[in-house]
Amino acid sequence: MVSFKCLAACGLAALPCLAAALPRPSCPDGLSKQTRAELTMQQVQQELGVLISPGSHIYSAEDQEFEELTLRYQAFRPPKIKLVVQVGKEEDVSAVISYADRNSVDFYVVNRGHGLPLSQGKFNGIQIDVGLLRNITIGEDGTSGLFQGGTFDQQVIDYLWERGYATSKQTTSSRDPVTDMHSHLQPRAAAPCVGMLGPGLGGGHGRLQNKHGLISDNMLKINAVLANGTTITVSADSHPDLFWAMRGAGHNFAAVTSFELKLYPRGPDTWYHKTYIFTEDKLERLFELLNGVDEEKNQTSHMLNFGFYFWNQAFDADKPVIQWDFTYIGPQADVEARLAPFDNLGPVNVTDANIPYPEILPATGTGLDDPMCAPGLNHVVGTAGTQLYNITTQRQIFDHFVGKSAAYPALAGTFVVMESYGVNGVVAKDPASSAFPMRDDYLLLQISVNYAPDASLDAAAVQWAREAVDMWNRGQPTRRPTTYVNYGLGDESLESIYGYEPWRLERLLSLKKAYDPHNKFRYYVPLVRDA
Ligand SMILES: *[C@@H]1O[C@H](CO)[C@@H](O)[C@H](O)[C@H]1NC(C)=O
Ligand SMILES: *[C@@H]1O[C@H](CO)[C@@H](O)[C@H](O)[C@H]1NC(C)=O
Ligand SMILES: *[C@@H]1O[C@H](CO)[C@@H](O)[C@H](O)[C@H]1NC(C)=O
Ligand SMILES: *[C@@H]1O[C@H](CO)[C@@H](O)[C@H](O)[C@H]1NC(C)=O
Ligand SMILES: *[C@@H]1O[C@H](CO)[C@@H](O)[C@H](O)[C@H]1NC(C)=O
Repeated sequence: MVSFKCLAACGLAALPCLAAALPRPSCPDGLSKQTRAELTMQQVQQELGVLISPGSHIYSAEDQEFEELTLRYQAFRPPKIKLVVQVGKEEDVSAVISYADRNSVDFYVVNRGHGLPLSQGKFNGIQIDVGLLRNITIGEDGTSGLFQGGTFDQQVIDYLWERGYATSKQTTSSRDPVTDMHSHLQPRAAAPCVGMLGPGLGGGHGRLQNKHGLISDNMLKINAVLANGTTITVSADSHPDLFWAMRGAGHNFAAVTSFELKLYPRGPDTWYHKTYIFTEDKLERLFELLNGVDEEKNQTSHMLNFGFYFWNQAFDADKPVIQWDFTYIGPQADVEARLAPFDNLGPVNVTDANIPYPEILPATGTGLDDPMCAPGLNHVVGTAGTQLYNITTQRQIFDHFVGKSAAYPALAGTFVVMESYGVNGVVAKDPASSAFPMRDDYLLLQISVNYAPDASLDAAAVQWAREAVDMWNRGQPTRRPTTYVNYGLGDESLESIYGYEPWRLERLLSLKKAYDPHNKFRYYVPLVRDA
């Protein structure tokens, strides 16, 4: 009888079983908050070890692997990791979460460690590392693929490209959670160093979005584990309410072990890309031209562009420079005339190439080996979305960059990033069809104040990013501020992140109550904030 009661308690988080019952019951592991308060990580390690598959590994801070597994892209306010459980099978995620739930141990699911938000800094517990879950299975009819939660961009790009093609270079590249899509295929996160899934749970912008919509628009099915360890399938037919929520606010609801995405024919063998570097005197004319390009919606469906402000003293010793990249999904000849005005503007450097898609990202100077993908730096970010560039504002942001770099030379590694992936596929979807709330943000703006961790610089970095965001928002007085969830620090207003229409937050919060009543998923831009 005692034993029965206690076994039941194993699945019911807060019953103080051990305290009440003698002799000791036959629970496979811990029992409750009260009785397990003194649980040490050594005990967790021992108890979890027998619950997960043989291909799994548990690492504590004493292990050599620990440092690498907990190294993050974002060093600003990192989570405190006590133990890393690297799961060998999808089922293990449920085993670990059930255990964590029963023992009131916090868990955080990590793939490539690219999350930016401040909320991560409140975490203290077990990192569930899904990095070994990398299987990709293309469906029989080639219209969809199943991706495990640990797949990452470059792996996916290469894998899919090779299935439709000969070979592609195993180069990697890219920016942080910019997302991106691939030809044969599906939307994917643009940064090969970035996981596939994380960006998609927040919508997921990408290179093919003009044709096919966001990553989340292409999700057909999500295999997930709820906060109490229950495994569920989420799709239009199974938990459709959660399917709605997880495509835009997905980080708040469940741990994803695998997901099915639509695939598309790969398209042209080569893409054309051209990168210009301009000195700042060209700024106004450049943004006038870009506004023209972005207004021609039909054309941008095949030509996307993005650019940066950053310091490159090879081109300008006194001011940051402006780099602009164009990528066209097709042959050079199609776009030469459209790019001629940019050539005529007088760039200080131009590079171009016709290359297979997997080589595009490294070719644009955003490779894994480039600083943009390097782990261990602080990235104090701020973001805004807009529809056309306000040229006055773009100048203000630039001059602000100059002033801040002079005042804080240690912050001069900062980037201002401006992205235009085209909008046709994004606006074509019913905005109510998912929790992604900002389909009318055509341009993504982000500042990333980058520096080696140094607490004495934090306040200045935060202030710089905030001021830049305020300038962008003042530059569009008729629109409300928006925060693409993957690009901000997460301390912006919930409405700016998850949508201003009151029904959106109401629906999200009611689903949160139903699926994660104890707010276990609260470390990535939480819907329910700590008091
Ligand atoms: C990946 O697929 C192979 C072949 O089906 C299987 O043996 C292996 O266990 C899978 N790996 C994971 C992590 O699920
Ligand atoms: C866009 O496409 C539509 C339909 O194909 C066409 O009528 C229109 O002229 C195009 N606009 C531009 C700017 O090319
Ligand atoms: C300028 O462009 C050329 C190609 O046109 C490239 O080889 C060179 O590395 C560039 N210079 C710098 C400093 O990036
Ligand atoms: C551009 O930004 C300026 C300065 O913030 C603002 O006064 C102006 O109204 C903006 N222009 C438009 C077209 O929104
Ligand atoms: C787990 O949570 C879900 C969603 O809140 C709930 O429907 C289910 O009954 C729970 N399962 C157990 C075993 O408590």
